[in-house]
Amino acid sequence: MRDTLVEIRNKLDIVDVISSYIPLTKQGKNFFGVCPFHDDTNPSMSVSREKQIYRCFSCGASGTVFTFVQNYEHISFKEALAILAEKAGVKLEGNYAPSKQKTKYEPFYQIYDLSCRIYQNNLQSKMGSKAKEYLKERGIDEEIIKEFEIGLSGATDHQLSDMLTKKGYLEKDLNTLGLVNTRRDMYQNRIMFPLWDSYGRVVAFSGRRYLTEEGSKYVNTKETPIFIKGNMVYNYHRAREEVRLRKNVLVMEGFMDVIRASTANVKNVVALMGTAMTHEQANLIKRLSNNIILSFDGDDAGRHATLVNGEELERLGANVKVLELKDNDDPDTYILKYGAESFQDLIKNAITYRDFKIESLKTGKNFNSDEEKADYINEVIEEASKIKDEIRREIILKNLAIEFNLSYNTLEKRLQELLLKNTEIKEKLVIPTKKPNLKDKYYIAPRAVLYYMIENKKVLEYYQEKGIFFPETKFRTFASEISYIFKKYGIIALADFYTYLSDKEEMLKLLEEIVELDLPDDVKFETVLDYIQVMEKDYRNQEIKRLKDLMKKSPDLKEKEMLFEKIRSLKIGS
Ligand code: UTP
Ligand code: MN
Repeated sequence: MRDTLVEIRNKLDIVDVISSYIPLTKQGKNFFGVCPFHDDTNPSMSVSREKQIYRCFSCGASGTVFTFVQNYEHISFKEALAILAEKAGVKLEGNYAPSKQKTKYEPFYQIYDLSCRIYQNNLQSKMGSKAKEYLKERGIDEEIIKEFEIGLSGATDHQLSDMLTKKGYLEKDLNTLGLVNTRRDMYQNRIMFPLWDSYGRVVAFSGRRYLTEEGSKYVNTKETPIFIKGNMVYNYHRAREEVRLRKNVLVMEGFMDVIRASTANVKNVVALMGTAMTHEQANLIKRLSNNIILSFDGDDAGRHATLVNGEELERLGANVKVLELKDNDDPDTYILKYGAESFQDLIKNAITYRDFKIESLKTGKNFNSDEEKADYINEVIEEASKIKDEIRREIILKNLAIEFNLSYNTLEKRLQELLLKNTEIKEKLVIPTKKPNLKDKYYIAPRAVLYYMIENKKVLEYYQEKGIFFPETKFRTFASEISYIFKKYGIIALADFYTYLSDKEEMLKLLEEIVELDLPDDVKFETVLDYIQVMEKDYRNQEIKRLKDLMKKSPDLKEKEMLFEKIRSLKIGS
């Protein structure tokens, strides 16, 4: 079962996980953010991709994805595990399996599950022939119908309510769930697309008209105790695994787009079900991945949604890219017209959100007016000042200078002004430089040796073959834990010690002290031997002091003499 924990940790990248909670900035090898575990505005938390741990310079908190989620969300280890297992696509079994508590909504889920199957059945039966034709015309084959559990609502206004009440479900519940209204089915003659919650349970439907052009194109289930539209992202549970593999997520407007993309073998996709993105949806998407590609419709509404949602996602710390469609295409029609490969190329060529924004500043401006021209130039420079990469900034300014026949220096001056303003705002947000290790060498030595026992196989072998003498019991216990864990599980990472030691408070504290020292990894074996010597010297000094005290107190001359001898031999050894 511990293997499951290691598997989950290996499948997730701590940088992705933490950046779905707090914005992180890369600086050298590590990533930095404002520590959420103490009151701070400085980015004192560092996250190591290499070691898969985080630690805070300021409050000393450190740990792995598990401890981060647990402490951030104020939940139990088991709950954190459930969240991360889901994210990693690992099924939890045995002790770690989530307790299947039946909620009071259980009958509601059953009703939706059953309705979904009734609708699917309708589509497959004789009454579904026209709907099948419609779907076929739209290029939706059997396989897609099965995969997305597409169905058809009955031709009468009582099919569903009859079937469900016959099975003993209460009419009151069917009303609550938005499936029936005053004994009449809510959905008739519509192609039914089930909507799932993040656990993959059907919680609502969207029904499309297909026989007439009358009525709304899609009718969605009203909000119910199990369905809040603003909390739902279409295809969330299905996209998760693919998002993990591809390390990014595409966001589209409609579920038809998602379904079509899936046929183009693009399955790391979710849909907002419209252009508006709620705060909950933004956070859900960020939890899937911090690398987000917006792929909205190629019309004005789509472009507007890209600007609004892109800005919000960037504000939340996501890396946003934009896949731009033209000619009023949506991903669905684009793929039908130009094919899967062409769409995959668009994904590869997605531009950054900032570039998209700059591009969009031109629309609606009259460049014959000097004033509007100047507005545009100022706006572009303002956007450029938000870009961290100096080279990209320079490219933008150079292009601008050429396009409007202006001197580069004028533009550069303006940029510098803005950059200065930005840094003034962010002034307090400087990454603290590493504090020098002020700890005493006797403090460092045993912790360093333990660290290298984990990080360096040679040191562990030395311990196992020759033995290393630690000056305190807690170090000895820790050393034997390390040795035991390696014998039992083979190679494991430092990060996993947090999990293995999670129920041993003293050991965990020691691990945190060790990590806090931020020791370099590439040291020579001799350096470790030096640490061992320091430690043994520390031990001898302590022993000598103890024996001297004893000698002073002892009334027995013979014993005094014996103690004296012992002290002498210890001194020779040092
Ligand atoms: P679109 O109008 O872009 O739908 O709305 P679409 O994906 O292109 O659908 P087809 O190709 O015409 O069949 C995008 C999303 O907005 C929601 C739906 O969730 C849809 O997927 N919508 C749209 C509604 O809820 N009601 C509507 O009447 C229209
Ligand atoms: Mn469409």
